[in-house]
Amino acid sequence: MSTDRTSPTTTATEPVRAVRRLPSKEATRRLAARLARLLRPGDLVFLEGDLGSGKTTLARALIRARAGADIEVPSPTFTLVQRYELPDLTLVHADLYRLSAPEEVEELGLEEALETAAVLVEWPERAADLLPPPTLVLRLRFEPRVEEARVVEMEAAEGFRDRLSELAAN
Ligand SMILES: Nc1ncnc2c1ncn2[C@@H]1O[C@H](COP(=O)(O)OP(=O)(O)OP(=O)(O)O)[C@@H](O)[C@H]1O
Ligand SMILES: [Mg+2]
Repeated sequence: MSTDRTSPTTTATEPVRAVRRLPSKEATRRLAARLARLLRPGDLVFLEGDLGSGKTTLARALIRARAGADIEVPSPTFTLVQRYELPDLTLVHADLYRLSAPEEVEELGLEEALETAAVLVEWPERAADLLPPPTLVLRLRFEPRVEEARVVEMEAAEGFRDRLSELAAN
């Protein structure tokens, strides 16, 4: 599968998509490690997909890859936000599943965090449209009949387009 521009009339502001199959957890881990290398302060990554589709698994692998160590990465299900001050990048990992109202997202300081950190957000849908536009959206889907397989759709905004082909490489 290849990175494709959605139409021949693509303009500078249109996102670009790529779709990849993740046949195993190891494949998810590899994708996460590639993304870990590509992230910079100011990047906002949305992790979308049903319960159990692999958002935390991907985020955990990403944080560990960038840390270069098997550090503890708890799911932010209850704390909502976890912050990792890594040697060369601050990573913020949020899970908005338990927001009681979209406006609550403003108390989490994610926009402020973006000034110096890269931010990963599970369940961004829960904040309605109160988050800034993402740099990259990863949508995870279960693959029918194959327990360990997922499909990931990647959608890059302008600021990530030059990095998408590297992320989507096999
Ligand atoms: N290819 C795969 N990629 C990612 N996870 C996989 C894969 N195959 C199996 N799994 C398993 O699926 C589960 C995914 O759970 P995880 O907590 O990452 O999901 P989640 O999307 O964060 O769910 P939630 O919405 O509840 O936060 C884990 O048990 C993981 O081991
Ligand atoms: Mg999760």
